[in-house]
Amino acid sequence: MTEQENKKLYMVGNLKMALGRGEDAVSLVSDLKKSILKYKKVETVVCPSFVHIGMYKKNTFKNNLQLGAQNVSWNEKDSLTGEVSAAQLQDFDVKYCIVGHSERRKYGETDFVISQKIQTLLKRNITPILCVGEETRDEKGMYLKNLEGQIKNSLQGILKKNVQNIMVAYEPLWAIGKDAKRSANGKEIEEIAILIKRTISDMYGFTKIPENKILYGGSVSNKKDLQEMVVDGKIDGFLIGRASLFSKTFLPLIEEANRLMTEKKYEIN
Ligand code: PGA
Repeated sequence: MTEQENKKLYMVGNLKMALGRGEDAVSLVSDLKKSILKYKKVETVVCPSFVHIGMYKKNTFKNNLQLGAQNVSWNEKDSLTGEVSAAQLQDFDVKYCIVGHSERRKYGETDFVISQKIQTLLKRNITPILCVGEETRDEKGMYLKNLEGQIKNSLQGILKKNVQNIMVAYEPLWAIGKDAKRSANGKEIEEIAILIKRTISDMYGFTKIPENKILYGGSVSNKKDLQEMVVDGKIDGFLIGRASLFSKTFLPLIEEANRLMTEKKYEIN
């Protein structure tokens, strides 16, 4: 199989704190399981709340359906009240972990702490999904400089041999959540995907375009937008909040992602 034929899209569901009952998080996954195997061109990742992770039966997550976490502790000391370590996540077969989501940065999570979290995850072979994004856009393009700073600072201390194992999710704050007026469009996403790769490349002195997978997140909810974001944005997948909470809204997006990849109407980077 060629590299292009092997490519898949990542559909990551960030359930946040939204599902009050563990049974709802469990039944979401069992609904997905019923049809997900046939969507071979998509890797779906469900990131439930910590307290729900242990409710899934062993071996629930395999093949193209994987388990993710929404956060991790910045170190592995055993005396950190209220924290959850990368080792504990690994014990539950967590394969991905979101770090630096704007809803955590808002409450004081710094780029330095995020860089520490990324390092503990990489040691445990858990793929970090690093979120970056601007609050607003200014005409002079200062937000691009800020984004570059966010990326560089969140990657401090990460070795060159590991950095391409990190996924980067572009999540503009103005596009996230129920108050958002719109999602970013394909062109806006493409511009930032290029900036992310260029920043990593400059930082580490890569001679080829780095292979980091780039996701987009923020009000992803319908098939038409998804198609435009994939075709024009040339990204590798999505980090989805509200639309991932229920199989009736998440599955159609997964199905569409699979269709786009199968019909190969475009090339992703
Ligand atoms: P949303 O959230 O899809 O509900 O806008 C995305 C996110 O915060 O990751």
